[in-house]
Amino acid sequence: MKAFETWKLAGLTLRNRIIKTATFEGLCKNGVISDELINFHKRHAEGGVGLSTVAYGAVSPDARTFNDQILLEEDSVPTLTKLTDAIHGAGAAASIQLAHAGGFTRASGRSTWVTKGPSGGVNSYGMLSGYPVMVPLNHSDIDKIVDDYGSAAAIAKKAGFDAVEIHMGHGYMLSQFLSPATNKRTDDYGGILDNRLRLPLRIVKSVRNAVGDDFPILVKTNLSDGFRAGLKIDEAILIAQALEKAGVNALVMSGGFVSKTPMYLFRGDSPLQEMIKAEKNPIHKLMLKVGGSKIFKDMPFEENYFRDHALKIRKAVQMPLVYLGGVRTVDNIKKALNDGFEAVAMGRPLLHDPDLLNKYKNGIETISACTNCNLCVGVMDTPQGVHCVITGQPK
Ligand SMILES: Cc1cc2nc3c(=O)[nH]c(=O)nc-3n(C[C@H](O)[C@H](O)[C@H](O)COP(=O)(O)O)c2cc1C
Repeated sequence: MKAFETWKLAGLTLRNRIIKTATFEGLCKNGVISDELINFHKRHAEGGVGLSTVAYGAVSPDARTFNDQILLEEDSVPTLTKLTDAIHGAGAAASIQLAHAGGFTRASGRSTWVTKGPSGGVNSYGMLSGYPVMVPLNHSDIDKIVDDYGSAAAIAKKAGFDAVEIHMGHGYMLSQFLSPATNKRTDDYGGILDNRLRLPLRIVKSVRNAVGDDFPILVKTNLSDGFRAGLKIDEAILIAQALEKAGVNALVMSGGFVSKTPMYLFRGDSPLQEMIKAEKNPIHKLMLKVGGSKIFKDMPFEENYFRDHALKIRKAVQMPLVYLGGVRTVDNIKKALNDGFEAVAMGRPLLHDPDLLNKYKNGIETISACTNCNLCVGVMDTPQGVHCVITGQPK
């Protein structure tokens, strides 16, 4: 089966074409990389993935959404190296997301009491953490962020990662810049798409300068934000073309905006009740109870649910594309590769059963039993970290 043949991505040869996509692990309390995080990725590597993606590597303290996220700084290199060694030891390659929350954060210990994004407004997410206001980044803030991405990428490479994934989707900072709904700037970083792309493209350049020519840079980007005023597929095509021209090695295609349309990203059952149960802060709990049902609504799940949009990107670019979203069965994987995507990425089915790919490879199983209940989303911020509530995996 083609999915289990090697895949060359820039200077890296992967043992197969299946990527464990980033699923926030919740296993770095106060940013400390734990043995549990290392075991989590080792487990997925043992289960047969080609590339395991570590979620949310913050490029600076201000880039974090929560306090419990990895900070890509010099001090993290020794523990991150243990993590990449463990993944390599089990035969897979390692990637890490380079991320910035922009105006959308509730992490404490920030450099200012405001949060900064493309445009000003209310940070409803950080209201109770003492960061209720978003202000626009000025040009020197932007220059610093461009440098931070470069430094973070260099740290990742030093710690043994084989690839980095720049997060430009899901409503985080670069998604906020790309989306016409959240980028209301009137300078050369806002307005027409060429301007909204300016910061993402500067960041690609900064990361490339830091990691060198042969090192794979993946970008996770939105096919659609999933709401009326947001980014749509017509602009997502132009973004893909611009990223291809900028020398990005592969696009991981996704969609949705965590603060507005999280279920567009996941599909399936709303995890709201589990999130309310897991929330420790009583005021956040109350807010979720009162307002959560507006954004966390059940949304019908379909296998390969981003296929139609992703095929439009396939027609518009030559670069390697990673199909993501609703891949559940061997047939789903085959279909995505037959559609012309070079690789597939999977999240929830591998949380449900980290050995699934070996089972697929050896013909032991052909269908994932993941039910798209999304309770894994509800429990990711609990002491046990992200896991499948049905199977208790990964163990
Ligand atoms: C528990 C959980 C946590 C996630 N955390 C992240 C994350 O940190 N970064 C990210 O880009 N996507 C994150 N996602 C989204 C997944 O990467 C992926 O886009 C989504 O689960 C759809 O793929 P699937 O149908 O294979 O699960 C998360 C998904 C889940 C289920």
